Amino acid sequence: MARHLPLGPDLRFGAATASYQIEGATDVDGRGPSIWDTFARTPGAVRDGKDGRDAPDSYHRYAEDADLLRDLGVDYYRFSVAWPRIVPQGRGRIEPRGLDYYDRVVDAVLERGVTPTGTLYHWDLPQPLEDAGGWLTRDTAYAFADYAMVVHERLGDRVKVWATHNEPWCAAYLGYSAGVHAPGLRAGGRAHRAAHHLMLGHGLAAERLHAAGCEDVGIVLNLAPVWPESRDPALLEAADGVDAIRNRVWLGPLVDGAYDEGLLKVAPELSDPELVRDGDLGLVRGSADWLGINYYTPVRPGPAAPTLPGRETHPETGAYPGVAPVAFLVRDPRTDIGWEVEPVGLEELLVETHARTGLPLMVTENGAAYSSGVEDEDRIAYLEGHVAATERARVAGADVRAYIVWTLLDNFEWAEGYTQFFGIVAVDPVTKDRTPKASYHWLRQRLGG
Ligand code: FCB
Repeated sequence: MARHLPLGPDLRFGAATASYQIEGATDVDGRGPSIWDTFARTPGAVRDGKDGRDAPDSYHRYAEDADLLRDLGVDYYRFSVAWPRIVPQGRGRIEPRGLDYYDRVVDAVLERGVTPTGTLYHWDLPQPLEDAGGWLTRDTAYAFADYAMVVHERLGDRVKVWATHNEPWCAAYLGYSAGVHAPGLRAGGRAHRAAHHLMLGHGLAAERLHAAGCEDVGIVLNLAPVWPESRDPALLEAADGVDAIRNRVWLGPLVDGAYDEGLLKVAPELSDPELVRDGDLGLVRGSADWLGINYYTPVRPGPAAPTLPGRETHPETGAYPGVAPVAFLVRDPRTDIGWEVEPVGLEELLVETHARTGLPLMVTENGAAYSSGVEDEDRIAYLEGHVAATERARVAGADVRAYIVWTLLDNFEWAEGYTQFFGIVAVDPVTKDRTPKASYHWLRQRLGG
């Protein structure tokens, strides 16, 4: 229904964070271990060998962060809840001190006139659930829905807009196929099981949240425009497989209640009736009231010719099981993390996704990694270009309610550790003191401050 995402004449703005990336304090108040604590300890898994313990300590500094949001003048704060703080074993015993923490965060933000929107799963799966098979097992989906209800019962009086998952593509395929994210498995086509169970978890949680009166249940997807480099038939076929795993595996269940034939060709696992049980896809169909789009860069499948300039081993290699090996071209200009800057990709994605789903959209993440420090003119240019692309998509008919910048604070950038800087606020690695960058001041001015 999306009752709490008003469609005004103007685009709304927000800033996003995620629990494991900013909270620190990984061993306080009964928090259990997550798959990212474990994965980050694996030698070579994280570029600088660090983990969430060195994060900006938002667990203790949340009020300061809420001040930053207020002064920025944004409408929304997109935050995520750490499952291991709420249900340390993944199922069963609830940790009241974890709930108390998010209570404080939500109140701090609301007191400053900012609307909190929560994400229930931003990749920090409780380790005991992974030990029992993680997203490869069906039980995890049920445990997720139970946990979602615990959070909603405590925060739902104040948090009206919920997303179930953040970027299930990363959780399933970077985590269980490419092995570059937690839990770091290279399980090939079994990763499709993770994808299905993530969507089942979304469907189960959405059903129960709706029954409990929540009218704004969404899911955040990192869909991508897939632009093959040539019309070569073999390349077009591979690009279709990439599109299937990046985009259609999520949109098919949500919109049609089905996996399409092209997808089933590269992911025959999804035809297994033991995996995809009667009723699973029907449960997911129509379960989202809104859709979050995270966009950074387009995907350009190219011929596997590594000698051509501009080609390199792309981090997504290995993340499309069942698809013929494909090279990914990255054009200039790029940000520090190596992602091409191309705002037209966002515009196209918003227009097409709205046409495909009919749902209200929010750009739930968009931003850039630059090491330019507080004088980040490069980030301002990136954000300006992408806000303009969002506005053009609205003019073209896409129902986009908000643009939420990634991210408020420099933080733990997953496998990149603390080597990539996406924040509009710098964080001193030792003192954790916050210093707003030029991009923060730019956004504040744009918002009338
Ligand atoms: C997205 C993640 C987010 C952040 C950005 C840069 O894939 O959702 O946590 O790491 O990329």
